[in-house]
Amino acid sequence: MTLKERLENVKRIFPKADSALIAALHEVQDEYGWIHPDGVKLIEEVLGYSETQVHSVASFYHFFHLEPTPKHKLAICTNLTCMQKGAYELLKFAKENADPKKVFVEETECIGLCDHAPAALLNGTPLKNLTVELLKDLLENPEKYDEGHRETYEDMAETYGKD
Ligand code: FES
Repeated sequence: MTLKERLENVKRIFPKADSALIAALHEVQDEYGWIHPDGVKLIEEVLGYSETQVHSVASFYHFFHLEPTPKHKLAICTNLTCMQKGAYELLKFAKENADPKKVFVEETECIGLCDHAPAALLNGTPLKNLTVELLKDLLENPEKYDEGHRETYEDMAETYGKD
């Protein structure tokens, strides 16, 4: 499915709600790895948001990248439960071993997976009970683990898609 088709799908799911912009930004970032100007133009064309509106929302949320960044973004939780289960060692390992052209590694606050700590998100795909072995494979083959955000916002459309 092309980016334009995916943005049309976002429009169908969120016909009126402002939530469409967040979902659209995720689609653009999934496509390019960051909020590429061509993606911003497509958001304008398909959803009718101005470039200024797109940039004001994209710059507010830290998980949207306004500069070129690899497609795969690994956010490792380092809050209490994950920290107690070795999250900082995993974060250090990931930062030292990630190919910066392939995987962007960052630290994040609790992602609600404390009962499966240590946990992380790869572009919104939950990763539970992280180990160094799993991380090694993920850093080499991120596409194998990355399911993107699509199901996440499709699940939420029922709640947030209505004005
Ligand atoms: S503390 Fe890491 S998921 Fe909650």
